[in-house]
Amino acid sequence: MQALVLAGGEGTRLRPLTLSVPKPVMPLANRPFLTFMLEWLERHGVNEAILSCGFLSEAVERVLGERYGGIALRYVVEDEPLGTAGPVRHAAELGLVADRLLVLNGDVLTDFDLSAELAQHEAKGALATLALIAVPDTAGYGVVPTRDDLQVEAFLEKTAAPPTNRINAGAYVLEREVMERIPAGRAVSFEHEVFPQLVGHGLYGYLADGYWLDIGTPDRYLEATYDLLAERVESALPPRDETGSLVAEGSITSGARIGPMSVIGHHCSVGVGSTVERSVLHDDVRVGAGSTITGAVVAQGARLEDAVVVEEGAMVGAGASVSAGSRVERGARIDPGAVVSGGQPVGPA
Ligand code: GTP
Repeated sequence: MQALVLAGGEGTRLRPLTLSVPKPVMPLANRPFLTFMLEWLERHGVNEAILSCGFLSEAVERVLGERYGGIALRYVVEDEPLGTAGPVRHAAELGLVADRLLVLNGDVLTDFDLSAELAQHEAKGALATLALIAVPDTAGYGVVPTRDDLQVEAFLEKTAAPPTNRINAGAYVLEREVMERIPAGRAVSFEHEVFPQLVGHGLYGYLADGYWLDIGTPDRYLEATYDLLAERVESALPPRDETGSLVAEGSITSGARIGPMSVIGHHCSVGVGSTVERSVLHDDVRVGAGSTITGAVVAQGARLEDAVVVEEGAMVGAGASVSAGSRVERGARIDPGAVVSGGQPVGPA
């Protein structure tokens, strides 16, 4: 089975982290994010994945290479962003896709039963099938009601009283006929253009169960981290310590308090008397003594000197340096390479 993974977005909501690393290979629990998706795809019989890239595409290719486990990887790079459906048409025109294709949003952490979605697609003789996942709060999402026979009834943008809590989970099975209907040579959206026109013409919903989270915002990136650490989603991670944390081998943390629910990347050091709680440090981060990091993310190569406080929801960009005694306030965003000096507090961007 062949899959096309949409991996070309700029990930603006996850800045400043995505200014230096594209979202598809952003470290999550010390692994490039897409490796979780590729393992899930392999469990459901996928053996070839086309990665549709744009923004920082070289980084995606460099990190993932030509093969991951049992999946051969191919890359298609866009000159201009083609949206969510445009890349499928583009890959089809290049002669790369088979008559039936799985298409995935490349920023979803999930373990729902993709094989069951494919089986339903086949049984219904559908032109396209979209996975629909129930979420506790539909705010910020459009909802997709279905009829009793599972045909999609409508695409409803954010409404006050949604008739269902099922949203588009970003996992589609498509027949070639649908790929050929996508306009060529420009950005096209599945959600706004392609699927609404297919309502009543062979478009089905698959009611998915299981874990599902799109990791595209700082809050959800942290939530996905905690869920992986607590094994709320199926994955292959090394064992966590007694605080539920994951500390990469070779990082130096003696004399510091790490946890609960934290991830320390490779080649990090955290000084004596420092605390890292519900936080993520990517690789090569150095934290001095007596510092406190709570509910925050510190990107690769950042340096925090002594007695620094990083508050809830703050994001420190790659290679930034924060001088002794500074406070990075709740929700603040520090750009990659920025220098925060003089012990001045840094407010939200
Ligand atoms: P935001 O800027 O924060 O909205 O993030 P995003 O750019 O990733 O957009 P969004 O979350 O809507 O994208 C959903 C999925 O589609 C992600 O996996 C993106 O990488 C991918 N994607 C979005 N736009 C494009 C595009 O123009 N081309 C390709 N190839 N993929 C895209």
